[in-house]
Amino acid sequence: MVGISSIGYMVLGVSDPARWTSFLCDLLGMQVSRRHADGSVGFRVDDCEQRLVLRQSPDDELQVFGWELTTEYELLEMVERVRSKGHAVEEGDAALAAARGVHRVFSCQDPCLHYVHEFYCGARCFAPTRAFQSPLVRGGFKAGALGLGHAALTSPDYPRSVRFYQDVLGLGVSGYADAPGPEGRRMVATFLHGAGGRHHLLAVLPGGQPKPTRHLMVEYQQLDDVGLAYERCVANGVSIERSFGVHEGDEMFSFYAMTPSGYLMEVGYGGATGEKWNPVTHLELSRWGHKKPVMVAA
Ligand SMILES: [Fe+2]
Repeated sequence: MVGISSIGYMVLGVSDPARWTSFLCDLLGMQVSRRHADGSVGFRVDDCEQRLVLRQSPDDELQVFGWELTTEYELLEMVERVRSKGHAVEEGDAALAAARGVHRVFSCQDPCLHYVHEFYCGARCFAPTRAFQSPLVRGGFKAGALGLGHAALTSPDYPRSVRFYQDVLGLGVSGYADAPGPEGRRMVATFLHGAGGRHHLLAVLPGGQPKPTRHLMVEYQQLDDVGLAYERCVANGVSIERSFGVHEGDEMFSFYAMTPSGYLMEVGYGGATGEKWNPVTHLELSRWGHKKPVMVAA
């Protein structure tokens, strides 16, 4: 499969950049890699110059998906594909490409939600002599060709959103869910993958607004780093919304912490990777766990 490889970067609008910076660096182990002239801040998790950008904004929402195409040829094919489906695509100028740290970048507006979708190739990366090293994340993040992670979002027009991501962006279906959700209500979802190997880049759910983003996911290379991040979250008063568990579908071992913006961050290990997926409908979201933690007095 050619086309979108991964979510290479995301831009988050945040009302409290200092709290977010501490969340990303002191708890999850990311590192500040760029400070932009407009005050936004870039973070690295691997050899890419920046994977997350925080931009001061009252909306406290994921604003931009940075979809990676492996080559310029595939990027231009992607642009043509999106245009041929009736969506306007603009090429970003040199300033935008520099701000994103990429060779070329194009963008279009999501037809249902507020997201901007950027398509790019040629991310700027550090030399091996400046490889990502962190005393907090000993094994490093699982990113690279798999990209930053995945996102779960809700749409008031679920069929149209799924159609856009599948038919226009060209993501493939890796599975569905029709399962009891965390609050016991029936939950349906469609999981969509790219060519980079993650089970899904997007989980799309029907749901209300105003804010569609439900969670973002980042993954570590080692199990210990998930436990250590969990302990740092607890020690710093971050709410653990779902404790450890293993998902059906991507088989991710993970927990969910509340971000400073009110949506969740899934912190995982051991997610399945591959090229072909059997898109069954999972009747359970998790094989075990992912429950609201029960606090017991020490
Ligand atoms: Fe997830």
